[in-house]
Amino acid sequence: MADGAVRERWGHRAGRGKGDGDAADVALLDAALRVHEPLTRATHGFHAWPAALHPLAARDLIAAFPGKSVLDPFCGGGTVAVEALVAGRAAYGRDVSPIAVLIARARTARPGPEGIAAMRAAARRLAASATSARQLPPPDIRRVVERWYEPHVLCELEAIRSGISAMDGPVADLLWAVFSSILIKTSFRESDTRARREAVHRPPGTTATWFHRKAREYGRFLETLQEMVPEGTPSADIVRRDARDATALRVDLVVTSPPYPSTYDYVPMNHLRHAWLGIRDTGVDREMGARRAWREGEREARRQWSLDTHQWTASMAQSLTPGGHLVIVVGDGASPTGVIDALGPSVEAVRAAGLTLRARASVTREDGRGVDRWEHAILAAAPSLAR
Ligand SMILES: C[S@@+](CC[C@H](N)C(=O)[O-])C[C@H]1O[C@@H](n2cnc3c(N)ncnc32)[C@H](O)[C@@H]1O
Repeated sequence: MADGAVRERWGHRAGRGKGDGDAADVALLDAALRVHEPLTRATHGFHAWPAALHPLAARDLIAAFPGKSVLDPFCGGGTVAVEALVAGRAAYGRDVSPIAVLIARARTARPGPEGIAAMRAAARRLAASATSARQLPPPDIRRVVERWYEPHVLCELEAIRSGISAMDGPVADLLWAVFSSILIKTSFRESDTRARREAVHRPPGTTATWFHRKAREYGRFLETLQEMVPEGTPSADIVRRDARDATALRVDLVVTSPPYPSTYDYVPMNHLRHAWLGIRDTGVDREMGARRAWREGEREARRQWSLDTHQWTASMAQSLTPGGHLVIVVGDGASPTGVIDALGPSVEAVRAAGLTLRARASVTREDGRGVDRWEHAILAAAPSLAR
């Protein structure tokens, strides 16, 4: 396949696009990059996770490559794993962040009607006891979180946290995810991705109400997921793991979106969740492409991102069954000196891993900063068995 754009056109939402390879493959990748409309589908709306793949992109990419199994080595909130389940495939998700693993497990959970009812009932009890709570969190948690919450919010959250800690089993796992989902909204932090402090007032009882409301909504999402997943589909397998490490897993499809270079600090942005959930091993030293790496030194960060890209791609090439496919969605980053190209290192890594580059598509991103950044989708295939 020749390098460079062979088709260039103007699209509706995401701006200019270009692609290279078989027309049907390019159209598939291009469509995956352009879908943006918000939608409610299965459990996708439960719990925020930045830079999530669009559920319909995941759905269509999975449908295009029929098989038994799908792996996402950077699963984040579990978008690909949810869509793999809905397609009746064995779903594998991996991520270095313990919070991503918590969310992806929560979004792919299938506790059945009794489990959902038990989760709702427990949430109702916890919310009732939290409304008038007076107990502050223990010192190790308070030290980290105190400046981020009003005192009465701290007490309500502590009542919920200690209540879940006293439970065990699958209901507790579901409730930890619900608890995690309200920790930013109830705080002074502007959002998951913006650490600015905003002085907001939440009347007493609001935190408990939001927790209960989230649990009810989550219960509805779980019911929908249960209806959408074909009978006999295995449970999703979501595990904490560095994508660069070799894996014994064998799958026929990998669909993934690795961290875009210098875009987010996934681990540090979850510091409130780590404190509240008692997570000490946060995975901070294993996070790829983190923005902080570019602040520390651009040259070294670029070199490391390229090396990491080669490593995880090689690991995925080992995981693919003969003739299996790898789809990567990745975007350029921005640094003080300009655009950080994500396509070049990704394409090189695909080739170095012994995969065949079948197609690629790129679409411009509107970042409001006047920087010409692109988002890319790459399709590669593992060699088929010789006849
Ligand atoms: C762009 S996000 C993936 C979002 C996901 N596709 C979704 O729909 O939610 C990139 C993810 O890579 C994870 N990550 C960063 N470094 C990693 C590593 N070395 N191994 C595995 N996951 C890593 C981050 O925690 C983050 O969840």
